Formats: sequence, C-alpha cells, structure tokens
Amino acid sequence: MRMQLERRSFLKGMALAGIGGMIRPGFAQGAVDDLTELRCEPLAKVRVGVIGVGMRGPGALQKYARLPGVEVVAVSDLIARRAERQRDWLKKKGYPEPKVYAGTEEAWKGLCDSSEVDLVHITTPWKLHAPMSLYAMRAGKHAVSEVPSAVTEDECWDLVETCAKTRRHCMMLENCCYGENELFALSLCRNGVLGTLFHGEAAYLHDLRKMQFDEEDKGGYQGKWRLKFNQEHDGNPYPTHGLGPVCQYMDINRGDRFDYLSSISSGEFGLTDYARTRFGKDSPEATAKYALGDMNTTVIRTVRGRTIMVQHDTSNARPYSRINLIQGTKGILCDYPLRVALEPNGHSWLKDDALAALKEKYTHPLWKKNGEAAKRSGGHGGMDYLLLLRLCYCLQKGLPLDISVYDTALWSSLVELTEKSARKRGASIDVPDFTKGIWKTAKPLGLVDVG
Ligand SMILES: NC(=O)c1ccc[n+]([C@@H]2O[C@H](COP(=O)([O-])OP(=O)(O)OC[C@H]3O[C@@H](n4cnc5c(N)ncnc54)[C@H](O)[C@@H]3O)[C@@H](O)[C@H]2O)c1
Repeated sequence: MRMQLERRSFLKGMALAGIGGMIRPGFAQGAVDDLTELRCEPLAKVRVGVIGVGMRGPGALQKYARLPGVEVVAVSDLIARRAERQRDWLKKKGYPEPKVYAGTEEAWKGLCDSSEVDLVHITTPWKLHAPMSLYAMRAGKHAVSEVPSAVTEDECWDLVETCAKTRRHCMMLENCCYGENELFALSLCRNGVLGTLFHGEAAYLHDLRKMQFDEEDKGGYQGKWRLKFNQEHDGNPYPTHGLGPVCQYMDINRGDRFDYLSSISSGEFGLTDYARTRFGKDSPEATAKYALGDMNTTVIRTVRGRTIMVQHDTSNARPYSRINLIQGTKGILCDYPLRVALEPNGHSWLKDDALAALKEKYTHPLWKKNGEAAKRSGGHGGMDYLLLLRLCYCLQKGLPLDISVYDTALWSSLVELTEKSARKRGASIDVPDFTKGIWKTAKPLGLVDVG
C-alpha cells in the first residue's frame, strides 16, 4: 500500500514537472514550492559583503555604498591588497569602515559567517560562484553571484534545493536584463506590440583575447582563470548575457520552459592564432590546446514550440554584440544597432523618428525614472546600477526578486548542457525543469519598478 502511494505521488510529481521535463533523481516527491514568489523579511538596511574585488567587484561595491539604505560592511579577496584598497576607498569617501577577510583561499567563509552581513555579493572566477553561494545561504545570507552562477547541472540543482531549504534568496546578477534596450524590448513585449513571440536570438560576442592572456597585474584575470576554463571546456561557458533578457521577454519559467537543445561548436582557431602572433609560434601559449571552439551556436526549443538561438565567441576580432533579437507575429526588435520593424510595414526597419517615438511611448518605467542616474553612475550604460538598485529595493521591501533561483539555475545550466551536446556532434539534450512544474502557474514578471 505504502509503495503504491509513493508511486502515485511520484507520478503526480512527474505530471507536475511535465512529461519529458527532466527532474533530479529522487527529487520529485513532496509539496512543490514556488520559489518565484519567495518573500523574505524586509531589511531596513541591507548590509552587504562583497567577495572578489578584481576588475568587476569594485564597481559593484562602490555602487552599493552610494545606494540609500545600503551599507558595505565586509570585503574579501584572495589578494589582500585588493580588499584593502576597497576598504580604503570606503573610508576616504566617508563611509563606515568594512571588515576585511583576505589573503587565503577560504578567508571569504568568515565574511559569510559574520552576523553583520545580510547579502553576500560574489564576483570571483566562475568555478567559485556556486560553492560560495551555497555556503552563504547555509550561513543564513542571501547570495547573489556574477554570471554564470554555476558551471555544472548538479550545482544548479544544489542552488535550487538550498534556496528552498534555507529560504534565502539566490540570484544571478544578470545585469543585461536591466539594459536600456533590453528594458525597452521587455516593455514592447509586455504591451503586445510584437504580437505572439516565437523566436529569440542571444549572444556573447566579445573579443577578450588580450585580457585572457594578460597577467593579472596588467589588466588580465586573476591567475588567468578564464583562459584555463577555456582550455578545459567546449560549448558555451558564458551564455546568460544575451539569454537572460530573451527569457524574460518570453516568460520562460513563467508560462513556458526549455524542452531540449542542440549545440554545435566550430573548431578552435582564434586563441592559437592570437598566441602565435603575440608570443611566437613555439611559445607555451601557442602550443597549448584550447577545448573551446571559437563560435558555439546553440538552438533551444521550448515546450510551447518556440526557439532561441544562443551564440558565444570571445576569441576573435569583431565588434561587441549580444544580438538581442525578439521576433513576434506582428514585429521584430533587433539590437546592435537597435532596429524595430512592425506591421503594417514589417518588411522595413522603422525610420529614426518613428523609432524615437516608439521608444518615447514604451520606455520601461524603471528606465524612465532612473535611466539618467543609471547612466551617470556608469557601468555598462547604466544597467549595473539599475540591477543593484532594484535588488536592494526588493530586499528592503521583502519582495520576490526579478531573477528567481529557477532562472539562475536554468540560464547557468547551459554551461554544461551545451558542452555535453557539442561534444556529441550537436546531439539533442533534454533541459531539466528546475521549477518542478511551477512554470505552468508562475506569474509572468511584470514591468518592475522601484516605488
Ligand atoms: N556582468 C558583467 O557584465 C560582468 C563583467 C565582467 C565580469 N563579470 C564576471 O565577474 C566575475 C569576476 O570577473 P573579473 O573580471 O572581476 O575577474 P578578476 O580575475 O579580475 O577578479 C576576480 C577576483 O576574485 C578573487 N578571488 C579568486 N579566488 C578567490 C577566493 N578564494 N576568495 C576571495 N577572492 C577570490 C581574485 O583575487 C580576483 O580579485 C566573473 O564571473 C566574470 O564573468 C561580469
């Protein structure tokens, strides 16, 4: 009898997850909990600890310091002088002095364990994001990490399960969801201007050759962590900048979900070619093997029959692009540069004045109110500021966060799933349903604002 009941609840769990929606083994039973709506106690003051203050971290730390109702109380880095430099900056600007946890591989654990910290902000190399987020949540802290939040599917499941267990927020800091053009696109989609959405295109196309080979004290990554990752892994190691906004346009995890994907990589040419020119053809850099194919192209199909193309190339000479394309039955928006075409003249892009009028009419409320301050604050045209502004606003009000732990897990899971598919000649790979069926009832993200 017990066996029968367990089997019944297992099957119910499977039905909730949607047929074919892969779920972690042994994770189907029990009540399904909607973490999209996770609300935590409002924080009158958000006390932030920042781990990792290399090239990216200081910008976030300094933005937090300037936000109302936010205080940077702790800073950590493997390299002590980097953490101390940020402490000194805060002191010089008249902010309270933060505690420094630095100089060893595990000093950051002290920051997570501190009772003075509410929010742990992680800006370290990719492989450390998930272990640090998990530790922070288990220590009772909200955890936000740079992109991607995890590099394996297992880590993605761990983030979801730990968020559910600890009731602490876990969010990926996908700043591109707050870009001026991405918010405009979201506003067009929410207002039905593009009709029924059925295809998106996203990318991270950015020439990072020099930074990957540079030494850490000469503008490169600490210990060349990115180059090392690219020596070991194929697929798309950095899928979320273009993908996150497209998922928000399409309400992925909130009415639709990824079903399967297929990913194909070109061969590797760019890093070797660059290394030969810069270091010589017999140098260790030029003779090393790089697993990462130059151009990785992934196509995802959703259960509602929609498609998303995602590309990655950081190894070649080319202008920057995230593509940022969304196609509906009544029109299309495509970025780099921003263009829109709409019925009844869908065959040609809107002229400058018509595009300006459309932008005026459909500017996202968050951008309308805070766009100028965001631009002044710097950081990728203002998106970095809006991301942190909105995050802290939600924490202060006890609201659910815009990027749920499901989004965090799903978008990050492509790191391993694309590699698996690319290594099998583009074989079709099922994408797990990290929501366990919640996607069917979760409400779409509205046009979010800050009061
Ligand atoms: N969202 C964006 O627009 C954006 C832009 C740039 C970088 N990033 C992401 O930010 C992250 C950091 O990138 P970066 O360019 O600053 O790299 P970086 O190498 O300059 O900085 C990483 C920092 O982490 C520190 N660190 C390493 N191990 C540590 C440990 N055990 N404890 C504490 N600190 C440790 C390093 O010493 C270094 O200072 C990456 O995930 C990157 O992809 C995101």
